[in-house]
Amino acid sequence: MNLTRAAAGPVPASVSQRDGSLARVAAWTVEQGVAVDEMVETIRRAVVVALLESRSPGLHHPELADLTPVPADIAEDLGRAFRDVEIGELAQKLLEWEVRDASSCVGEIPLAETGLPLVLAPAQTARRNRGAYFTPTPLVKALVQRALAPWQDDPAGLSQLTILDPACGDGRFLVEVARQIWLRLEAPGSPDPTLRRRVIDRCLFGIDIDPLSVCQARAALWQAAGLLGEPPEGLLGHLVTADGLLDETPGDSSRFDLVIGNPPFGSFSGRGALALDPLLKRRYLEAWGGSGWETLHGMFLKRALELANHTLALVLPTQVTHLQGYAELRTAVTDRMSLHEVLDHGEAVFRGEAVAPVVTLIARRDRAGVASWVETKLPEWVRGVRSRGESLGRLVGDPGVHTGNCARRLVVDFDDGEFDDGDCVGVLEGRQVHRYRCQPPARKLRLDYDAGEGEYFTIRPLDTYRRARFVIRQTARFPIVGPKHTTEYFRNSLLALFEPDNGYDIFYLVGLLNSRLLRYLYTTAVRESDQASFPQVKVGSLRDLPIIWPDLDDDQQRGAYEAILAGVGRLLELHRVSEDSSPPFQQFLQLEEQIDECVMLIYGLGQTARDDVFSSTRDRLGLGSGDRERVIRQAVKAPNPSDESDGSCDAPAPDRLMSRPG
Ligand SMILES: C[S@@+](CC[C@H](N)C(=O)[O-])C[C@H]1O[C@@H](n2cnc3c(N)ncnc32)[C@H](O)[C@@H]1O
Repeated sequence: MNLTRAAAGPVPASVSQRDGSLARVAAWTVEQGVAVDEMVETIRRAVVVALLESRSPGLHHPELADLTPVPADIAEDLGRAFRDVEIGELAQKLLEWEVRDASSCVGEIPLAETGLPLVLAPAQTARRNRGAYFTPTPLVKALVQRALAPWQDDPAGLSQLTILDPACGDGRFLVEVARQIWLRLEAPGSPDPTLRRRVIDRCLFGIDIDPLSVCQARAALWQAAGLLGEPPEGLLGHLVTADGLLDETPGDSSRFDLVIGNPPFGSFSGRGALALDPLLKRRYLEAWGGSGWETLHGMFLKRALELANHTLALVLPTQVTHLQGYAELRTAVTDRMSLHEVLDHGEAVFRGEAVAPVVTLIARRDRAGVASWVETKLPEWVRGVRSRGESLGRLVGDPGVHTGNCARRLVVDFDDGEFDDGDCVGVLEGRQVHRYRCQPPARKLRLDYDAGEGEYFTIRPLDTYRRARFVIRQTARFPIVGPKHTTEYFRNSLLALFEPDNGYDIFYLVGLLNSRLLRYLYTTAVRESDQASFPQVKVGSLRDLPIIWPDLDDDQQRGAYEAILAGVGRLLELHRVSEDSSPPFQQFLQLEEQIDECVMLIYGLGQTARDDVFSSTRDRLGLGSGDRERVIRQAVKAPNPSDESDGSCDAPAPDRLMSRPG
């Protein structure tokens, strides 16, 4: 696990200690007769309950009354193994796992203690459906500080505020609100127990659909208060397990001075639609539907608008600020409130998590806010690169098989024996292509198909497909380029990348288009790129990307160019050979990092640009700047694409449970 929020103090427990501890809990669930498909949730609950009890003994939660706790020795073992882990982080991460039969895939944690051939293995669905990606602390602090700004000079007002987080998770926004109020109202270094109790009891309200999260929120708040004795009633009564969109809010009032938080994100339709229970979905739509694109975060925004008396401070996907589908929602906000702040944080905020780029929004019920929804300022260096770069022009194209109105008859499943394989060829689709990697086609194309009356489709001559050695995924938020070694034909969910005719190697374009710089340039230029539903990479947008060809008479540029070719060659090869074995993830990451550095060098970019690019695209390796310099030095020294050892992969292996699966 990559334990980003380890508590200060004790030396972190080892991965195997944690794995072993989880395996013992798993064995206990088997003894309890828990079915395999319920094991992971039972393990998650048992772990969280044991940790809550060891850290905040005596806090009673009605939600947990029916749960059978693990035996004391296992609880102690968990306490030791996870002593340096935040409970909330762990609870979220466990949502990413499932118990299944051992298959010797990478990242599995064996559960031999169960006496069954089971493993804990990565899965994504549960976590995504709940939108359980908690907000990093710096963003929480900053948003709370700015949201509370109007009351900074009004201590009496500050102590009377009512604050609601309608999807409070482990309570981090509420804890931070409490901390900032205490800090402002207490004399330095003198905690005031009465004040602390009163703030918890009267000011703070939270809802979450996940009972475990609510219990964590209570424990976190009580721990932050650092008080002895019985906790105030409000801790139990005002932090409740409920549906933030459908249920009544806790407390006596139905309006709050401040509604703050990071609601769950997700769309109701489109490719990435949430897998919601149909009945629940209908209830959400009845309650909050009908103003454009239907999303969970949009509905939370609407409810927050109704509940907020004074200020709204939310983390939202960036797309809310500019996509047409949210136009009515934006109007609903600005009809009732004025925008005080819309800050674009890009996608790096939730490091390594599958979370869309986000903005923070602060709106208040006044007319004083002068912020606008979309920030359009482009950094100076981007304008510079744009003015120096050339277009890809005809090096990208859209010749893919266009199935017209015959898709079902023209493209059939591989195991469909009705069609003679002599007349069929494999055809690649977008989903088979990844950075530097291509899976075998899942479907075949009937070359013998004759269009009937009214039918149309386009298959170009084989040579057209052959000319495209690499393809670019069209169904993606930014360019993703992969090889095309498993078949020649591809559908128009893929775009073609052709060999340059100016003497440069196509590997250079592959490395460039897959690099973080080009991804940054693409996503800052194409606003729809962060739309959750059906984003598409269009030929026109690719052609608008500024391509800079290296000056091969310059030693440094040549070194960087050759290192890119070497890196791309190595990545392609590693992906091909690793198809049947454990993929060397760290090596992939290191090579990509190397390519990123070389691209920055060829584009002649300085520190400002580097900071912009590396902070707003996800840092895949998490290397510090010293490491980066080392990586680039090694990169420029490694000119031979067939060189087996790059010898530079000494980044620490990720700690399993906290790293993203898959
Ligand atoms: C993105 S997390 C945000 C948590 C917290 N606000 C934070 O930023 O740290 C979303 C939270 O929403 C909760 N959630 C999902 N659907 C919900 C619903 N319908 N009502 C209330 N909470 C919900 C999840 O359990 C999760 O804790």
